Amino acid sequence: MESPRITIKPLFFFSYMLLSHITTLSLALALEDCEFPAIFNFGDSNSDTGGLAASLFLPSPPPPYGETYFHMPAGRFSDGRLIMDFLAKSLGHPFLSAYLDSLGANFSHGANFATGSSTIRLPNRILPAPGGYSPFTLTIQYSQFLQLKNRSQLFRHRGGIFASLMPKEEYFSKALHTFDIGQNDLGEGFFANLTIQQVNASVPDIISSFSANIKTIYDLGGRSFWIHNTGPIGCLPYILVNFPSQKDEAGCAKLYNEVAQHFNHKLKEATVQLRKDLPLAAITYVDVYSVKYSLFKEPQKYGFEQPLVSCCGSGGKYNYNGRTLECGTTVTVNGGQIFAGSCKRPYVKVNWDGIHYTDAAAKIVFDKISTGAFSDPPLPLKQACHRSLD
Ligand SMILES: *[C@@H]1O[C@H](CO)[C@@H](O)[C@H](O)[C@H]1NC(C)=O
Ligand SMILES: *[C@@H]1O[C@H](CO)[C@@H](O)[C@H](O)[C@H]1NC(C)=O
Ligand SMILES: *[C@@H]1O[C@H](CO)[C@@H](O)[C@H](O)[C@H]1NC(C)=O
Ligand SMILES: *[C@@H]1O[C@H](CO)[C@@H](O)[C@H](O)[C@H]1NC(C)=O
Repeated sequence: MESPRITIKPLFFFSYMLLSHITTLSLALALEDCEFPAIFNFGDSNSDTGGLAASLFLPSPPPPYGETYFHMPAGRFSDGRLIMDFLAKSLGHPFLSAYLDSLGANFSHGANFATGSSTIRLPNRILPAPGGYSPFTLTIQYSQFLQLKNRSQLFRHRGGIFASLMPKEEYFSKALHTFDIGQNDLGEGFFANLTIQQVNASVPDIISSFSANIKTIYDLGGRSFWIHNTGPIGCLPYILVNFPSQKDEAGCAKLYNEVAQHFNHKLKEATVQLRKDLPLAAITYVDVYSVKYSLFKEPQKYGFEQPLVSCCGSGGKYNYNGRTLECGTTVTVNGGQIFAGSCKRPYVKVNWDGIHYTDAAAKIVFDKISTGAFSDPPLPLKQACHRSLD
């Protein structure tokens, strides 16, 4: 006897809109959870779990960085965990070790190539030069990934204590590759005194460089890609303080956010093209912008207060005064010396240090994006290995 089968054929008589709704819904119900034995992350300080701290003498985050969760600095530009930490945990893994960290790193379940202040394109100035950016651009992070992929297998074959710290060969094609990068490409332009229009006009070039890196990772066998768009940069004190300009209803710098939105629009278009170019890839575009923006727009809904004001800082309207990170350092403000220390209740704050989000904010952002409600295709994190039907 023939076993009963569900056929989706009749659905093709429905209109395209209806079809895509139904297939999305039935897909999410029918799809199995993916096995992601490893995570490889590429990005900037939004997802750096210790790369910059391990590789450059400054700006290694000093206390009170890390105070809320780790109770000591933990290489993260936050009082606690990052979105990436919540993501790793939710897939059943420990926090990701930074690839650049030689001390106690365990890459058996993945590696983190992100470093604070990384850009997609080559920056004009490199740290530790004032106003410099990380030397570890997305393309360099790709090279490091290639190194890890090749050399980890050498260590696995040799056995001994190092073998157990390396990912298995088959993990590379099954892994989730995550991305959160681009904010500094925009920031670099703004701080180099380019006009808003000039920075906006640089977006297509930034995005094409991003796409090129996704393709090279695909060529190495990567199949699942989870891509965060860029956040509302105009809601961050480092923009609000340095570039006084027209505000929107949430008090954010309107035009600066519009550049971020343009970046996201182009990034989303690029993911549509990548799905055509890379037939075996499952590519998820994640609208982190909207979730982060809602924290500024409706802070009380999440129990937050004064979302535009940094928790750790040196006073003033946004509790932030500089061009660089002040938290945990002594800074000169109006001729006086002030230690930029933490606020009393970091758990009601959205912004930690003028640029980065608090542990509390990161948790809410992760909880929202992990459901798929902000993703294209709208599949939850645990199903991000499946290609959508489009
Ligand atoms: C490395 O991490 C894995 C979990 O992914 C764990 O099982 C293993 O014990 C860790 N190794 C060491 C030496 O801590
Ligand atoms: C990685 O390994 C492959 C195959 O073993 C080899 O062809 C390639 O040159 C290696 N690449 C690097 C960067 O070592
Ligand atoms: C941008 O303009 C400000 C204010 O005029 C100036 O202090 C700063 O040096 C300029 N930065 C660059 C990179 O030219
Ligand atoms: C950025 O460029 C896009 C496309 O040219 C345009 O639609 C948008 O209005 C620009 N945004 C800003 C803030 O200049």
